[in-house]
Amino acid sequence: MLKLINELEAKAIAKINESKNVNELNEAKSTFLGKKSPISEIMSKMRDFTVEQKKEIGQRVNVFKTKIEECVNKKLQAIKDEEVNNKLKSEEIDVTLPGKKFSDGYLHVLTKTIEELEDIFIGMGYSIAEGPEIEKDLFNFEMMNLPKDHPARDMQDTFYITNNDLLRTHTSPVQARVMLEAKGKPIKVVCPGKVYRRDEDDATHSHQFMQIEGLVVDENVSMSDLKGALTEVFRKVLGEDTNIRFRPSYFPFTEPSVEVDISCFKCHGVGCPLCKGSGWIEILGAGMVHPNVLKMAGYDPNKYQGFAFGIGIERITMLKYGIDDIRNFYTNDKRFLKQF
Ligand code: DAH
Repeated sequence: MLKLINELEAKAIAKINESKNVNELNEAKSTFLGKKSPISEIMSKMRDFTVEQKKEIGQRVNVFKTKIEECVNKKLQAIKDEEVNNKLKSEEIDVTLPGKKFSDGYLHVLTKTIEELEDIFIGMGYSIAEGPEIEKDLFNFEMMNLPKDHPARDMQDTFYITNNDLLRTHTSPVQARVMLEAKGKPIKVVCPGKVYRRDEDDATHSHQFMQIEGLVVDENVSMSDLKGALTEVFRKVLGEDTNIRFRPSYFPFTEPSVEVDISCFKCHGVGCPLCKGSGWIEILGAGMVHPNVLKMAGYDPNKYQGFAFGIGIERITMLKYGIDDIRNFYTNDKRFLKQF
């Protein structure tokens, strides 16, 4: 019988040590220590033995059980240790490996122009205002003194969404929104943003582009304030020797209206291909806010005057950096965009 237990013990130890995981180990344990194990069978036959044998075999069985338990516990620890080691190995990081290089981000050149202009205007006491790109006909046209069927609506071919909703064709509607909100108080704002027109895209036209609108409303505001403000801005953007001039023009929302030219910053007025030999470059539209526009927004035109202007962001950027095709801004060619 003792021989049998010795053999059983050797088998059990071998089986336990062969186990590759906790499941196999548990199986080995129940095979050799469980209720249906050979050792349990031996125990159940104890009553058939003599007192001497009972003592001897009983002791041996106890030793067997302790040894097997120990062996199982040792193996369990070994399996767990190995699992931890494998996990650590799989998560190993070689801190001496060279890192991956990420290229630096940079601002889009149009964003740069907008931020530069905003900084200059803020330095001159202006605040920034914004309006929605999906705009009401009311703000985009009616309140800008462009009633339905007004022929000047054709100047800005429009993407309509419904009869009353459209993609704004200019940033001027923000003027009306700001005036309504200011409820008769003085105003000094610039409003940058995207605008949309049903234009065929070519080197100088895009169905979507950007503007920055300016609006100053107060008592005693005059054309000379407009000229002074614009001169200061363009001297900061294009150089201290820049001059500006006004030419009479027409916009429904201003009276009088002007087209603003800047002195050519390339040839300094002598005449070159950039200014087409004239020494001057057309740059924006502006004027004194039309009394109708003031009235519709709740301002008394006998007490208040205002000036307004609309600057094309792409146009200034193209002039400043010598870019000859507006489509470069939107086609996301990194070789182009990285230059600025
Ligand atoms: N909204 C005009 C346009 O998009 C530009 C403009 C002209 C804005 C004169 C003004 C202005 O504020 O006074 O063509």
